[in-house]
Amino acid sequence: MAERIIITRGDPALEKKCRPVVKFDKKLHTLIDDMKETLLISNGVGLAAPQVGILRRVVVVMDVMEEGNEHILELVNPEIVSQEGEQTDFEGCLSVPGQYGIVTRPSVVTVRAQDRNGSWFEATGEEIVARCFCHELEHLDGHLFVEHTDRLYTPEEMEEYRAAQKQKGGTAKPEGGK
Ligand code: NI
Repeated sequence: MAERIIITRGDPALEKKCRPVVKFDKKLHTLIDDMKETLLISNGVGLAAPQVGILRRVVVVMDVMEEGNEHILELVNPEIVSQEGEQTDFEGCLSVPGQYGIVTRPSVVTVRAQDRNGSWFEATGEEIVARCFCHELEHLDGHLFVEHTDRLYTPEEMEEYRAAQKQKGGTAKPEGGK
C-alpha cells in the first residue's frame, strides 16, 4: 500500500465525470488499498478516486470510526438506491482543506455497489455515513460540497458557530473531512 497525493479544488480532475470500473483486477485492488491508506493518514471519513487523480467510479467510506477499530467500506460503481430523512451540519472535504460549509443531506442512505471482485451488495448508512455516501458519490460526477452552500467557514469560524449554537441549545456535532 502507498499513500497517494490528494488533489485540491481548482484541479480540473475534480470536475470530471468518472468512468465505471469494468476490470476488477490487481490494478483496482492496489488503487482501493492505496485510497484506504491515504484516508487513514489524512484523518478523513471518505475519499473518492478522482481526489487522487483517478477518474474511475471508486470510493472508500469509513463506517466504523472507533479509534484502533476503524472499518472502511469499499464501493465500486456505487449508486444511491434509497434515502430518507434530513440532517443539516457542517461538512468538509480533503480536497477543500481548511474550509467547511453547512449542508443539508438525507439522514439515512442506502447504496448499491460492487466489491473489489465485482459482486454487488447493498449498504445502509446513517448520520455521518449517510452524509459521506452522498458527498463521495457526488465526487464521481465532478461535484464538490461547496456547490451546496454559499458560505464557507474557517475551522475557527466553525467552532464559533458551534459554540453559539450550543448556547442556543443546538446539538451540532464535530465532523471530519471527506
Ligand atoms: Ni470530498
